[in-house]
Amino acid sequence: MLELADVSKVYRQAERVVPVLQDISFSVARGELCALVGPSGSGKTSLLNLIGLLDRPSAGTLAIDGARVTDCSAAAAARLRNRLIGFVFQSFHLLPRLTAWQNVALPLQYRGVPRARQRAQAEAMLARLGLADRSTHLPGQLSGGQNQRVAIARALIGSPRLLLADEPTGSLDSATGREVMALLAALHAELGLTIVIVTHDQQVAAACPRRIALRDGRLAGSADE
Ligand SMILES: Nc1ncnc2c1ncn2[C@@H]1O[C@H](COP(=O)(O)OP(=O)(O)OP(=O)(O)O)[C@@H](O)[C@H]1O
Ligand SMILES: [Mg+2]
Repeated sequence: MLELADVSKVYRQAERVVPVLQDISFSVARGELCALVGPSGSGKTSLLNLIGLLDRPSAGTLAIDGARVTDCSAAAAARLRNRLIGFVFQSFHLLPRLTAWQNVALPLQYRGVPRARQRAQAEAMLARLGLADRSTHLPGQLSGGQNQRVAIARALIGSPRLLLADEPTGSLDSATGREVMALLAALHAELGLTIVIVTHDQQVAAACPRRIALRDGRLAGSADE
């Protein structure tokens, strides 16, 4: 599903070149549920952004679902991202003036799905995540756990093959965080999705069958530790 070979990333700042990821090679099979762990600043978000085609490596190659994405155009990368990848963020990244269903429908809107069908599909996905009675609420009218479920619904609405989550439980209290993690694990089992979750939370990491650890921008061993 995912293959990285000698991936490196440097950020350029004024006169300095800051190395952030160095010679990262690993692969993730279809249907794996992986935690990406490591200390703050070790490069987890940078790596997730590369995998999610939000950014490009400085060196090395990346293939997603058999497609080598490192040399494709920005437009082709955006199409692949829309078709293959769903994202969940720590702070939800919902649009505050759109209702729950309108937020969920955004990826369908980008694909040109007619509005009535957008709404029907978005409401069905919200119902599946236990939010049938919240579809016309705004993000400000929902709890953190509910907003994260809206964000998960938005990530799943386009039937992605790969779900990427950056600290999805980081803004939630521990009980709500456990619920969100249980939901992700259930969706993983039900849909056979490949999931990569960046987390600081030991319990979240422990709930994942595979852990990939970063330290100072390098792989610290992808086996169980
Ligand atoms: N756009 C950027 N320009 C320059 N340096 C950056 C940029 N983004 C990240 N960095 C640096 O890259 C390193 C890794 O950052 P990254 O956000 O990937 O870490 P992280 O493992 O996700 O940390 P955290 O657990 O705190 O979220 C940090 O030293 C950071 O300062
Ligand atoms: Mg981060």
